[in-house]
Amino acid sequence: MLSIKNNEYVEFSSTLLNQFAEVVGRFPEGRQKSALLPILHLVQAEFGWLSPDAMDKVAHYLSIEPIEVYEVASFYTMYLLQPQGKYVLEICRTGPCCLVGAERIMSHLEHKLGVKEGEVTADGLFSWRGVECLAACGYGPVLQIGPEYTFYENLTEDRVDQLIDDLSSKTK
Ligand code: FES
Repeated sequence: MLSIKNNEYVEFSSTLLNQFAEVVGRFPEGRQKSALLPILHLVQAEFGWLSPDAMDKVAHYLSIEPIEVYEVASFYTMYLLQPQGKYVLEICRTGPCCLVGAERIMSHLEHKLGVKEGEVTADGLFSWRGVECLAACGYGPVLQIGPEYTFYENLTEDRVDQLIDDLSSKTK
């Protein structure tokens, strides 16, 4: 995954542009705007998040207004609008999970990682954030870890520690 900073200029590779063309080709002529969601996923997979410049270039590619891209990207929480850690820990913060300890797990994450929600650890490895229902309401607290979105249920503080330690050692 490439990494870009907020004001950095973004260049889409020929590989990425070929992937864009393949996605656009799935839709009828003149309906290229329908490819916006999958194209944003491709850009995010390449750069780790969706910078303003990247979104502007997607708008240009699809011949739509930048605001149309911003509206979509800011609506869906799976799109990341600021730089994130290599691993993004997303904890469900909706009511049923809060009843069984989601807020406690979020406090633990903040303490364990030493960063507040949305911030990135100094080594660039981790960030975390609360998200809405992850559709496993009977098995909370629930966590998913991007970019692969691996799913974990019935979380405890010890299990969170173990997951973080495993990811840390995997990258050494
Ligand atoms: Fe947490 Fe639905 S409320 S998964």
